[in-house]
Amino acid sequence: MNNPETEIIKVSTGRSQYDIVVGRNILQKAFEEIFQEYEGHKIAIITDSNVEEIYGNKILQKLDKKDRVFILCFKAGEKSKNRKTKEELEDRLFELGFGRDTLIIALGGGVTGDLAGFIAATYMRGVPFIQIPTTLLSQVDSSIGGKVGIDHPSGKNLIGAFYPPNKVYIDLDFLDTLPNKEIVNGIAEIVKSAIIKDGKFFTYLESNIDRVVKLEKEFIDNAIISSLKIKADIVQKDEKESGLRKILNFGHTIGHSIEILSDFEISHGRAVGIGMAIETSISEKIGILKSEDKERIFQLLKKSKLLDISFKTSADKIIKKTILDKKTRKGVVEYSLIEGIGKAVYGIQVDDEIVKKSLAEAGLS
Ligand SMILES: NC(=O)c1ccc[n+]([C@@H]2O[C@H](COP(=O)([O-])OP(=O)(O)OC[C@H]3O[C@@H](n4cnc5c(N)ncnc54)[C@H](O)[C@@H]3O)[C@@H](O)[C@H]2O)c1
Ligand SMILES: [Zn+2]
Repeated sequence: MNNPETEIIKVSTGRSQYDIVVGRNILQKAFEEIFQEYEGHKIAIITDSNVEEIYGNKILQKLDKKDRVFILCFKAGEKSKNRKTKEELEDRLFELGFGRDTLIIALGGGVTGDLAGFIAATYMRGVPFIQIPTTLLSQVDSSIGGKVGIDHPSGKNLIGAFYPPNKVYIDLDFLDTLPNKEIVNGIAEIVKSAIIKDGKFFTYLESNIDRVVKLEKEFIDNAIISSLKIKADIVQKDEKESGLRKILNFGHTIGHSIEILSDFEISHGRAVGIGMAIETSISEKIGILKSEDKERIFQLLKKSKLLDISFKTSADKIIKKTILDKKTRKGVVEYSLIEGIGKAVYGIQVDDEIVKKSLAEAGLS
């Protein structure tokens, strides 16, 4: 690889094994490796309209007029993550003569990864699939773990599969062009991973979060790699979310409700930021988290700029929405909560009164 500091993180579950290659300026080398490894394959690079506009030409140069490689583009945005776009892309693949020897590459954010991965999972009953994530969120979260899928008018991510990638290439230079408003979504997941699983990383963030948020190279690179290792470790132990993987949902029960009630005006990252604050409060109130640890978590969330917005709604509405959340078992909401810095627990049922008090403290009552 061009950069000696390229890092390889290995993911190994019962069913799948893949490498996550992380570094800067690794795209050229990544394509060389792919072309070699998938020599007899026809390759479809699925990407969205924004990424295609910025990187299309650069990628075409790297392809060096390879006639077995095609770029397939769809309109950027969550609204495209649906059956219609899946069908259109599949039709294109058939028109272009893609057969069993197909490799699909997802080049883009989480929308592209989820959609292209789901296409790979079902095209010809499954073809190899490589992730090249280009947003902070997709680099630390959605490109690993094997969840792929699309939305349905009834809700997000309701149709999908577990279909792990064959490899993930994370080129951190993609972050240079990422719009500011997208950064917060990745920061929320980075901070979450420290809170739930890694006290040392949490301490690192306490000192350096300002520089991580500004995407200063050494600091954001460290944060992404630490975060990836945490997610990889959790996914290895419980790929299909029958237990431990649920701790990744910390902040998301309340967070999702806020996201939906705001009609998606509040971004995922900020909603999860507020969700983490409230679920930290809940953890303290049910007696599993010390108040000094709660204070440290609150301080880090503030410094991460995840609590910068206010949102007006009622506690009752939020609680009602949590019941409709997919993590509900028979109408009972189960929270993933915090027992200490770097220590999360899952499957906890909480009294509505405690949730209400915690929401009230955050100004939502
Ligand atoms: N599979 C999982 O485990 C998992 C986990 C978390 C989230 N998700 C999913 O991920 C999606 C959100 O992902 P996202 O936040 O990456 O959204 P996204 O894919 O829509 O990307 C956000 C925006 O950034 C643009 N973009 C992407 N890379 C860029 C770059 N390098 N420079 C400039 N612009 C760029 C995109 O075109 C888009 O407009 C949601 O659909 C969510 O459900 C999946
Ligand atoms: Zn999330």
